[in-house]
Amino acid sequence: MADFSLYEHTNGQLNRLCRVLGFADGPLPGELLGLLLGPAGASRLDESSEWPSGVSDDTTPVEFSIAFDATGECAVRVLGESVGVHPERKFLDVVAEWLGLRTGRFDAVQDLFLPETAAGGFTLWYSLIFRADSRPQLKVYLNPQISGPERADELVRMALGRLGIARAYDSVAAAALGRPGRDRFSYFALDLDDTPRSRVKLYVSHEGAETADVVRAASLVPGVEPERIREFCAISGAGNGPFSSRPLISSYSFTGGDAVTPSSYSLYVPIRDYVADDEVARARVLALMAQYDLDSTKLDRAIAAVSGRALRDGVGLIPHVSLRLSPFGSGITVYLSSEAYSVLPPKRRSVLGLVPAG
Ligand code: TRP
Repeated sequence: MADFSLYEHTNGQLNRLCRVLGFADGPLPGELLGLLLGPAGASRLDESSEWPSGVSDDTTPVEFSIAFDATGECAVRVLGESVGVHPERKFLDVVAEWLGLRTGRFDAVQDLFLPETAAGGFTLWYSLIFRADSRPQLKVYLNPQISGPERADELVRMALGRLGIARAYDSVAAAALGRPGRDRFSYFALDLDDTPRSRVKLYVSHEGAETADVVRAASLVPGVEPERIREFCAISGAGNGPFSSRPLISSYSFTGGDAVTPSSYSLYVPIRDYVADDEVARARVLALMAQYDLDSTKLDRAIAAVSGRALRDGVGLIPHVSLRLSPFGSGITVYLSSEAYSVLPPKRRSVLGLVPAG
């Protein structure tokens, strides 16, 4: 394993993912991944500590995900960070013209989220999105906590104002920030394409939440059935909470016509904290997929594309699972870790009630 570079390892995973999901072979995903990783891509896998990233638990600056659409289509995505690269937006500038990106919205808010001195957390993450028959898309993630928790609300409010949707702030705050100190803005994301569907996405993390808290958060979005949220929490987390390890996360999407009320809602469950190992995580994800009639064989092919280990030998290969409820297409997204540096050991499965008497 250590004989590989970070790029070789993650590019192999990405190419296999695209192939098993039926995408045409092509050099583009690999080229974009290489540019995104930058110099860290050349590092050997036994030099992990030089380039730690918060993108994943084992500090790999890359995480994959498969977005399954209710229509049967899917997208392969790569969340990544250019670690140790300055300026942070270098990758964006390198690929903007090539991918036909519109960076105007990013330009409008970047001074808010790229301050001279950062209080902590990440600065800029990218998501590369690949679909079978369209050109790659790019999304950027910014950190509302970048200047400290006490400034997060103000940064978000100002950014929404600059993007022409100032009134969105109050509606999100009323629905999702009801528990001071425990509900907080965690990501601010922008699609950088030029279509009417291009989104501003606002994420709120809910520490120690009960299902009822995310049901309330979801109720802001017209048409969301509370039962879908309850079911998703019950299956992915095997209960209704409190979700007291890593937080549940809500996201709201605002597209062209949404000035006050977002049109889409997503719920992210950090499933790795709520299972003993990845065999259990896979079983729960399959149950979620069955609920939406999604093709489960694709999940197993995707898992095999990124990992050869036995699923019960570790936890965190499936770090999150999310539900997207949207008039533009609903679905389930399954995240897959690269585990380039390490595999987290499994926890003990619960034996309560199975302990032999005497
Ligand atoms: N690793 C971080 C976390 O688990 C950030 C992150 C990566 C994340 N992928 C994500 C957060 C998907 C939510 C959903 O929090």
